[in-house]
Order: sequence, then structure tokens, then C-alpha cells
Amino acid sequence: MTAPRHGANRSSRIAGFHRKTPAERRDLVAAFAGLDDAAVAHLANMGNLPEQLADKMIENVIATMNVPIGVAINLRIDDEEVMVPMATEESSVVAAVCNAARQNYDTGFTTSVSGTLMIAQVQAVDVPDPYAARLRLLGKRDEIKRICDACDPLLLKIGGGFQDMEARVLDTLGGPMLITHLIVDTRDAMGANAVNTMAEKIAPHIADWSGGRVFLRILSNLADRRLARAQATWKLDEIGGTSVRDGIISAYHFAEADPYRAATHNKGIMNGISAVVLATGNDTRAVEAGAHAYAARDGRYSSLTRYEINANGDLSGSIELPLAVGLIGGATKIHPTAQTCLKILGVTTAERLARIIAAVGLAQNFSALKALATTGIQAGHMGLHAQNIAIMAGAMGDEIDTVAKILVERKTVRIDAAQDLLSELRRSSVPLQNRTITELQKGETK
Ligand code: MEV
Repeated sequence: MTAPRHGANRSSRIAGFHRKTPAERRDLVAAFAGLDDAAVAHLANMGNLPEQLADKMIENVIATMNVPIGVAINLRIDDEEVMVPMATEESSVVAAVCNAARQNYDTGFTTSVSGTLMIAQVQAVDVPDPYAARLRLLGKRDEIKRICDACDPLLLKIGGGFQDMEARVLDTLGGPMLITHLIVDTRDAMGANAVNTMAEKIAPHIADWSGGRVFLRILSNLADRRLARAQATWKLDEIGGTSVRDGIISAYHFAEADPYRAATHNKGIMNGISAVVLATGNDTRAVEAGAHAYAARDGRYSSLTRYEINANGDLSGSIELPLAVGLIGGATKIHPTAQTCLKILGVTTAERLARIIAAVGLAQNFSALKALATTGIQAGHMGLHAQNIAIMAGAMGDEIDTVAKILVERKTVRIDAAQDLLSELRRSSVPLQNRTITELQKGETK
């Protein structure tokens, strides 16, 4: 290993950095941060995303960040068998979906969407007569439609384009604002580019018609015209009886009533949702912003899911949230892994993708609540967490499983315990595979 080239250049002001190649940037970063050759070689390994492609996707590229993709199985969604690739760094997330889906495999998930409509907002300020201007704008609907649709003839051809508009007078700290909403069907695109282009195109006209000044022209991530919904029933005997059912319902009541709990409850839902959104190259932040804003739509942040007892006494769960995901454009189209994940999913429309993602969110939440209301989540988490701890302690190959198992058995899933155990194992001359777990647990390593 070579010595770190620390401090050769500690300035972050580097003219023309964006014009350099990834390799040149890596060298500059290495000099800045004192990275050794091994670290630079590690960054240079781009995995299965070609460097040239990565360099076109974002600015100042030096490396890629690999996150595992696991496949959720057992899923039957709208009577179709589905395998769902999920990209996540968090253990237990994929297992949670598989477990929830196994417990309702016979009936599966039923899903729907409200549409594929996105909203773009145009902000006009200093409008002398905002209420009158609002009516003037509404009267220009046909002209606004014509201008918007001219921005994207292809979208029009596939049945999308401008659908409607709204004009709202908003009372703000800076006085009244006239906010125009363009409501656009973006079909299989997530739609950010399409609606932002329209908003920018229409903005000078709005300034003209309203007599005000236009500033912001951008989509809203509160995509409440693009809701995805999923429902599922878990039979009592599949989930362990009435006490489990009631525990899950009580957990939902807790989240519904308390934003502190709702934040964690919804975070769990987003564990599943964001993992599929990422695996398909979609915008995780857009979906997360939309979900959380929707969860607060009634003025109090609350649960994205609901649970109730159906006529048979079984547990019925449902979810509804905005899901602005697409199949065309952005990373979805150009990232080879995202393309392959879409093939695994077998989706041909953005609508179907959103429906599957909603089902995954519900499944994720069911498993989290079931674990929390019964055994707690630590037992399930500990197996994989212990493996991570074993790896952090330096375990390799067979050592990882062995160290992890013993850590869980001893209830000492800690890095110091893993390091001690590993040294103990390595001091022994008997090969790992020839020792029983009981021997290892007792510390009988010879
Ligand atoms: C952990 O990432 C997610 C949970 O906290 C979700 C929940 O509490 O509902 C287990």
C-alpha cells in the first residue's frame, strides 16, 4: 500500500474541474483528501455503470456508489405474479416485503391509480387585482392549453398533454400571490421536464395577462393527481390470530394520532417504496417529498396506510400516496441496471409501476407493524446486522456467518465482541468448518 498523498493540494477552488475526465478528477480529489492508491483504484472501479455514462449523468463524477439489489418474491399483484427488485442499503427491508406477501399470497394485492397527472406551478407577484386577474387567466384556458401542448407534440400523440388549469390567490407573508397550476397528463414519463418546459413557456403570458411579475415556474412534488393505491387482506390464521391483528391496528391508530410515530411509520413504508423507485432509476426525493406532503394534507402529519377489520374478522390494510414515477427519460432510460430491473418487473406503463410500488409500501408497513406489535424488530434485524458487524470487524468468507451467528447467540452484536471473536477464531489451528458452533461459543477454539 502506498503512503497517502495527503495535503498536496488543499484548495477546493479548482478552475475547470468539470471539464476534466473522471480519472483526472480522482487524482485531484486524492491530492486534496490524501487518498492512497488503493482508495483511488477503488473509486475507479465503476461496477456495472460505464464510466462514460456516469460522467454524462451528473457533474464532476469520480466514482459510483453500489447499493445491493434484492428481489422481493411471493407477490401477487392484481392477480399477476411479480418479482420486485429493490435497491437498499438497509437489512430486513426486502425480507419484510417477502414475509408480508407470503402471508397474503392467496389473495394478494389489489391496486389502482387516480391518473398520471402532474402539476406545474407559476408564481405571479405584485398583481394589482389578483382576484380579477385570476378570472382573466381562467378565461385564457384554451390559449394556455394550445401553448402548453405545442411544447410537447409527442406527448400529445400518445394521449397526454395539458388537461386542466387552476388559478389560486394565495395569502403570503409578502402579500397576495396569484398561483397558476397547469395540470398535465405526462403518461409514462415522470413528467418533470415536460411540465417545467410548459410552465416556463406560459410564464411571460401569465405576467402579461395578470399585470404582475412572474418568478417561479416549476412542478409540484405534491403530485396528488397521481395517486397510487393498494389494498390487501391478511387472514387471521395466516398472521397469528386476533391479538396480532389488533396489535397492528393499534399501531396504525398510534401513527394516525401522533406525528412522532407517523414519521417512523411512514419512514418504514418509504424503506420499501424508495428501494423500488431507486432500482428503477426514478427520483427517490420527488417520491419522498410527495409522500410526506400528502401525509400532512389535512394539516396534521399522519399515516399513509390504514388498517381495519373486515366483515370476516380479517385484517384489511390499504395505502394511498402520490407516486410520480416514469419509464421514459432520466436515469430510468439510460441506466442499464434500471432497465434490467424494469424487465424483471415486467412493467410497460408508469401506471403499473406505481401500482406495484404502492403494494410494496403496504407490504413493508404490514411487516414492520406486525414485528413491532409482537416480537419487536430487533430479533429480525440482528441476523443481518450481525453480519455487517462481522464484516466491519474484518471477517471474511466463512468467518462472516460464523461470527455473526455467535454474536446473535451471545446477544453481543457489537464491533468489539466481533473483533475479539475473530481473533480467537484466527488463533485456532482447527479450520473453521471443522468446529461446531457450540465449541466456538464456548471459546473452545483448539
Ligand atoms: C426501520 O427502518 C423502519 C421501522 O422503524 C418502521 C416502523 O417503525 O414502522 C421499523
